[in-house]
Amino acid sequence: MPDLVKRRIALLTSGGDAPGLNAVIRAVTKTAINAYGCTVFGIEDGYEGCIKRQFRELKIDDVRGILPRGGTILGASNRCNPFWYTHRAAGETEPRDHSGDVVEWLSELDIDALIVIGGDGSMAVAKELHQLGVPIVGVPKTIDNDIQGTDVTFGFDTAVTTVMDAIDKLHTTAESHHRVMIVEVMGRNGGWIGLYAGLAGGADVILIPEIPFSLDSVQRKIERRAAGERSFTMIVVAEGSAPIGGTEIYETIGPLAYERRYGGMGSWVAEQLQSRLEQEVRLVVLGHLQRGGAPNGRDRLLGTIFGSGAMHLVANGQTGHMVALVSERGNPGSPTLAPVPLSIAGSGPRRVPLDHAAVIAARDLGITLGEPKAEQQ
Ligand code: F6P
Repeated sequence: MPDLVKRRIALLTSGGDAPGLNAVIRAVTKTAINAYGCTVFGIEDGYEGCIKRQFRELKIDDVRGILPRGGTILGASNRCNPFWYTHRAAGETEPRDHSGDVVEWLSELDIDALIVIGGDGSMAVAKELHQLGVPIVGVPKTIDNDIQGTDVTFGFDTAVTTVMDAIDKLHTTAESHHRVMIVEVMGRNGGWIGLYAGLAGGADVILIPEIPFSLDSVQRKIERRAAGERSFTMIVVAEGSAPIGGTEIYETIGPLAYERRYGGMGSWVAEQLQSRLEQEVRLVVLGHLQRGGAPNGRDRLLGTIFGSGAMHLVANGQTGHMVALVSERGNPGSPTLAPVPLSIAGSGPRRVPLDHAAVIAARDLGITLGEPKAEQQ
């Protein structure tokens, strides 16, 4: 059995849930116990559990049967930042920096590594805690697929499939009623879900944050279709998209860049288009459906590979890193696991590059991306 200098491992699931979290918890726990003989602790409700000091030991029996389950058996807290947190249960009314308490508690717990399963905001917090001396390894989680340093995050593929299924269903009703159907999808200020699901579902218009859109261009697309044989139009609107010269729609709920609650752009686009068109325009906001349900095969596999890979980083002394799936240059078909510094993983969202193959394919297929000059059929 490989030797680990340190033998007590803690893990937590941070941020919005994503299909595959339980697969990671199971893989970390089994690898830690089977391969390294460690004791494993699950911290409850993400970083909040570090502040409230809530945890339990995880044994092999505790992770049996959880692979196909959505959500997280440990609970999660979205937007809990130990550096800026109001501990209401302790009578606090204003946010304050709890990072010192967290470092102290983790040191009292005598843990040798903390595995943080989270998105880019959680990786940014992990980087700061690591700088304060907490040995941390990250695992890239989010349906948004927007973490720097990894080609893919677990949870994304299941979300794309959920949106694609919804678009398939909406297609038949849109066609029957000759309607313009708008689907607002998640993704914050990245267009990965909208672009991939829009392509997979055969949408006619896909609006993503990386490409500010022209309503005129969308209107022309709808009118061309209505004048032809196809009297319906399927539009995907990513929640973080915005019109040219306009702004994103979100609610600010905290001081940090990621503390925004997006939503409303689908409704705005629907209202604008309805005021321009005779045709009926309807909106569906998929919301948290995109995060729910069982992980698909790819996310179960990714979660499992990431979970075991994270434990190997701990064993190799590579704390301060996130486990990532990275394609070798010139060999995109064969990605491998690699450690990426937390400073990169937490350096802000990874957005869709405009020369991405999916953007090129969308243009080639005549899908309107809202660009003012691109007039497709
Ligand atoms: O980051 C995942 C995500 O689902 C985003 O796509 C979305 O904007 C956000 O979380 C919603 O967060 P909440 O569940 O806190 O409303």
